[in-house]
Amino acid sequence: MSTNKVRSIPSYLPVGGYKVWNHPSNDLIIPKRTEIKRTIKDEPLTEEETSISNDHSVNLSNPYLRSLEVDRLPHLGIIKEGNNLERKFGGIKFVCTGESVKRMERAAYLMKKQLNLDGPVELIDSDRDRFSIYKIGPILCVNHGIGVPSLTVLLNEIFKLLAYAKCEDVVIFRLGTCGSIGKPIGSIILTNKAVDDRQRPIFEQVVLGRVVALDAKIDHELVQELKMIGDSELSDYNISVGTTMATNDFYEGQGRITGAFCEHTSAERNRHLLALKKSGIISIEMEANAFHALCSKARIRAATIDVVTSDRLQGDMINDDTDNKCAMVELRPAVLAAKYIQKYLH
Ligand code: URA
Repeated sequence: MSTNKVRSIPSYLPVGGYKVWNHPSNDLIIPKRTEIKRTIKDEPLTEEETSISNDHSVNLSNPYLRSLEVDRLPHLGIIKEGNNLERKFGGIKFVCTGESVKRMERAAYLMKKQLNLDGPVELIDSDRDRFSIYKIGPILCVNHGIGVPSLTVLLNEIFKLLAYAKCEDVVIFRLGTCGSIGKPIGSIILTNKAVDDRQRPIFEQVVLGRVVALDAKIDHELVQELKMIGDSELSDYNISVGTTMATNDFYEGQGRITGAFCEHTSAERNRHLLALKKSGIISIEMEANAFHALCSKARIRAATIDVVTSDRLQGDMINDDTDNKCAMVELRPAVLAAKYIQKYLH
């Protein structure tokens, strides 16, 4: 039994709601919110049925989950049966997620050491070979792979896991990597606005053939708190706060000229990057808009903490994380997250 205790964390205030973006392909078939609810179940849903959460818990707005005695989280390799997940994961207060398994494993060991947590780092064993969860005290560290589709699968199952385990006031950090526009390698970027590759602050998804958009809402209080902690305790991390653009591709989608295909010139790439900089974008990665949209919809406090692995004004190549020094730089977001968590651990 772990003896790690967690102080109460301010709970999430803004709630992300469904909004249908005014997209030309939607024409006149956009249902109103109340009608969307009705299509889920072919009769009106009661107030109680539309929400299965309180102000502190994860907001799962799927009435179909209510009746499930057994549920599979197939990409996590976890099964919910009765209250087994509450017993195993009930004390979780923080989730750290990032692209790679190795980095998340290192993050878990870093948390254990930096926070002086009792007990071993536990790998939640799964034969699925998709996502690997490391559990240490009240913290889960789990990889999400590259890009939005992989991330949204992970988030769906993590939200269900947290809800089934009856976890409350959870904070989730994306401990990621990014390209910057003019910030040196190793600096930290805290996202205070997340936009898609058309610079819209939304996450767009096609559901039943319709384009549905969620606001990529940011928890500005959390960003400010992280910035204050970082500036006072990790001043060499050169922390910036600004707009992050998430793209659907690493190569052409981020204007690189190093992919298998390239239909633009390096001069066009440079002009594009400078135009992005002019509109306030300081970092480019592949997840921020979906991460903030889904976390706010689930009513979970969330922050993107990215470390710069390439300054795109200097070139297209990224730091190679097989190099030990680079691996240490890639752990900087985890160090900052651990400083935050420390404030809420007794
Ligand atoms: N991740 C990205 O998506 N782009 C970069 O340049 C670095 C990390």
